[in-house]
Amino acid sequence: MIFETHAHFDDDAFKEDRDALLSSMEEGGITTIVNISSDKKSIEDTLALTRKYPFVYGAVGIHPCDTEGLTEADLAYIRNASRQDKILAIGEIGLDYYWDEPDRAIQKKWFEAQMELAREEKLPVVIHSRDAAKDTVDMMKALRAEDIGGVVHCYSYSKELAKTFLDMGFYIGVGGVVTFKNARKLKEAVEYIPLDRIVLETDSPYLAPEPNRGKRNSSLNLPYVAQQIADLKGTSYEEVVMVTRKNAETLYRMG
Ligand code: NI
Repeated sequence: MIFETHAHFDDDAFKEDRDALLSSMEEGGITTIVNISSDKKSIEDTLALTRKYPFVYGAVGIHPCDTEGLTEADLAYIRNASRQDKILAIGEIGLDYYWDEPDRAIQKKWFEAQMELAREEKLPVVIHSRDAAKDTVDMMKALRAEDIGGVVHCYSYSKELAKTFLDMGFYIGVGGVVTFKNARKLKEAVEYIPLDRIVLETDSPYLAPEPNRGKRNSSLNLPYVAQQIADLKGTSYEEVVMVTRKNAETLYRMG
């Protein structure tokens, strides 16, 4: 009964066996998946996946790394997509300063525009923030993100910063990195974050957990993530699966 809050099954990495893999999810204990889009093509592919598989839902939005050249017409396209059945959130959106491009001003412009879109459409946001903690927090505060709500996905910052996101009412997405031996900072953050604010994610096809690190990731690896969280929290695997499912349903307003 695992709830996968963040995967990219539209990715080319799944070109050969997408159908077989998705058809094996229920047997693998993965009963709900939210497919997250990152550019216009993946929005289209996400919509198609939500129509094909009863257990697949979607989020629509443009990843910061794909914001170069976006137009108002693209924003209207996202808005229309967000009104389709089974679309639960706007994402992934945010700031990524790991690469030098797109220019930070462009990333900020479209982060803000998509946050406002989420507010208007009354949908939560899926936030991607990499090497951009200060600007992400400053913008979220300025935009009153606490009135929008959502999740900070693939959390990679400190436990101190986690408090800031928690204070704004956000959930924290935890994925395969938490199983890595050198992920001391993230393990500390997960120890600190209350279980009722954590959601499970893979970011498939990226960031496979141990013992599959380096291979193509899929939601079938989520038990390794859940077990690691259970170990860090001193609770049971079953409890982690149950509570994070409830959290995900609240985050994505599925009640
Ligand atoms: Ni992602």
